[in-house]
Amino acid sequence: METLCLPAGEESLKLACGLLKRGQVVAFPTETVYGLGADALNGQAVRAIFEAKERPADNPLIVHVAERKQLEGLCQVTAAAQRLMDAFWPGPLTMLLSKTSRVPDITTAGLPTVAVRCPNHPVALELLRQCGLPIAAPSANRSGRPSPTSAAHVYEDMRGRIPLILDGGACRVGVESTVVDLSGNVPCILRPGAVTAEDIAAVAGECTVASSVMRPLKEGEAAPSPGMRHRHYAPKAKMTVFVGENEAVAKAIIARYEANENAVILAHESALPLYAGRRAYSLGESPEEGAHLLFQRLREMDELGCSLILAQGWKAEGRALAVMNRMARAAAFDIVEV
Ligand code: TXA
Ligand code: MG
Repeated sequence: METLCLPAGEESLKLACGLLKRGQVVAFPTETVYGLGADALNGQAVRAIFEAKERPADNPLIVHVAERKQLEGLCQVTAAAQRLMDAFWPGPLTMLLSKTSRVPDITTAGLPTVAVRCPNHPVALELLRQCGLPIAAPSANRSGRPSPTSAAHVYEDMRGRIPLILDGGACRVGVESTVVDLSGNVPCILRPGAVTAEDIAAVAGECTVASSVMRPLKEGEAAPSPGMRHRHYAPKAKMTVFVGENEAVAKAIIARYEANENAVILAHESALPLYAGRRAYSLGESPEEGAHLLFQRLREMDELGCSLILAQGWKAEGRALAVMNRMARAAAFDIVEV
């Protein structure tokens, strides 16, 4: 199959809508990462997403809509969900809601809940409006690769597997949406993103974070979200994350760097001078900048063919929880506090 990669515009959006209506898969930009979309209510179309991504069938997809009205008949929108939608939609917040039988089992991997989100990106919103379909879309990477934050990343992973990629430039946020479970009395974050627990608590009164967000699942422990069972965001190189003050982190990183043939360094912008003469790249300064750059850097490190990534992280709390959750998983939870 030939894969077209076209700048998002009137013509390419029309082409994308035609493909989606015929049950095909189209990649499109969102504010978080690129998505691999198909008609969420067409089981065959959804199957094609799983095939293109080589995604395990037990990992459910997020259903994207342009407006709340599109959820009618698909899921039960509770009062708590309404309030969160008022506050955060369109935006990087995905909610798990009880689904109806109109949502095929393949979309939710057989779960009784469906994940729903309204993305805050002009191309995604225009596509959703024009095609008028709820669109199931996981991140547009091959399973086990870092999520794509540019059309070029999608092309690397999906070339020959899907007919069309809409290019809308680099994604602003850079890590996937917050996933929140609303089935209990208190909202619980299963996957941290740009909408934080503090943001949700400000609207819902309270919000907890699943403990498995920053640690591996124990043997036999049930995963709160199927996505947590699977290996994620894995660069080819081994990775270790260091957290602390610039100087202390640099000391620890340089010791490892010197002891290794083929290591690279990802550090905060302000710490780069401490690594002069070594292969060091910026992860920005704030956790938001880190989130924006992380997946791109992981792909670049893979291309360099390095065998060890020594990365400076942030304390895993508040706004930094999203980027640290991804760094922890990329590093198989090898985190050193200095
Ligand atoms: O930002 C995003 O959320 C991006 C863009 C494209 O919207 N999408 C995305 O989808 O990251 P994906 O499939 O890569 O991640 C969805 C996560 C997975 O960890 C999945 O297990 C979880 O959400 N999930 C989906 N439906 C669920 C459900 N019903 N119950 C529990 N977890 C669910
Ligand atoms: Mg994904």
